Amino acid sequence: MAHRWKNNLTWDDVTPEAAFLNRRQIIAGMAAGGIAAGLGQSASAAEGLEPNTWEEITTYNNFYEFGTGKGDPAKYAGSLTTDPWSVEIDGLVDNPGSYAMSDIISAMTTEERIYRFRCVEAWSMVIPWNGFELADLLNMAGVQSGAKYVAYLPAVRCDELPGVASNVLDWPYVEGLRLDEAMHPLTIMATGIYGKPIPNQNGAPMRLVVPWKYGFKSIKSIVRITLTEDEPPTSWNKANGKEYGFYSNVNPTVDHPRWSQASERRVGGGLFSPRIPTLMFNGYEEEVASLYEGMDLSEFY
Ligand code: MTE
Repeated sequence: MAHRWKNNLTWDDVTPEAAFLNRRQIIAGMAAGGIAAGLGQSASAAEGLEPNTWEEITTYNNFYEFGTGKGDPAKYAGSLTTDPWSVEIDGLVDNPGSYAMSDIISAMTTEERIYRFRCVEAWSMVIPWNGFELADLLNMAGVQSGAKYVAYLPAVRCDELPGVASNVLDWPYVEGLRLDEAMHPLTIMATGIYGKPIPNQNGAPMRLVVPWKYGFKSIKSIVRITLTEDEPPTSWNKANGKEYGFYSNVNPTVDHPRWSQASERRVGGGLFSPRIPTLMFNGYEEEVASLYEGMDLSEFY
């Protein structure tokens, strides 16, 4: 499938998997994979980034089904059974039903996407995801013309997810996108990181990545996708509508009610590393600003 997305981040921007890949192997891997590498144009140097580790991508996480601590997902996510796995796709689609993960994987074109990732708590990372465009999966299910929104839900298995015993959120965690956001070529289902299967704490076997939105829209371990006519209620919006809107686009000019969103701390830079300015739409303005033309983004936050 021909994709319109163009990558403007390179391996120099990636939070590296220093623990078990050295630079030469990374470059060899890129050459083998035919990835345009833009080496030498180090955006990381421009942004003052220090290299991070695979360790940081996989041990500093938000996954409330395993607890609210950043270390809880890495500690407890081993309990999640991710194989076999299937995803229910229903609502306004021509082919509703249960899609086995193995069938999805064999039907999809998986590629690597190096994306900035910005959490509402003002930390960020750069992560090399492997995945496929959500649009490809939705097209497989056949989106009907009345569909305007996509709601997606992760697994809720009380025996495997200790965090759902707490009432920190109304389970299951529900998030949603407008259909055009869901069909945008930047929106991917990630199934891997650094070319390896995605670890449970990062959302195995399949999690959404919507790089121009705050991280909580990128829901993990998805089991159900529903196409709807109406905007779906979302967990964080239900929990605190003043702080978390439906859109949740990264926007340095719209503060979270309790803190500024104008800058961020790149994970791994250390406590005293300078905060870096947050970019409009997390740096993807050119690709996505047109989706919101004419909308007041302080109203639709
Ligand atoms: N998905 C599920 N199922 N449960 C969660 O608690 N947390 C979200 C999002 N997806 C969350 C989730 C939040 S708040 C963030 S910032 C990102 O996952 C964190 O992704 P990461 O841990 O891979 O960096």
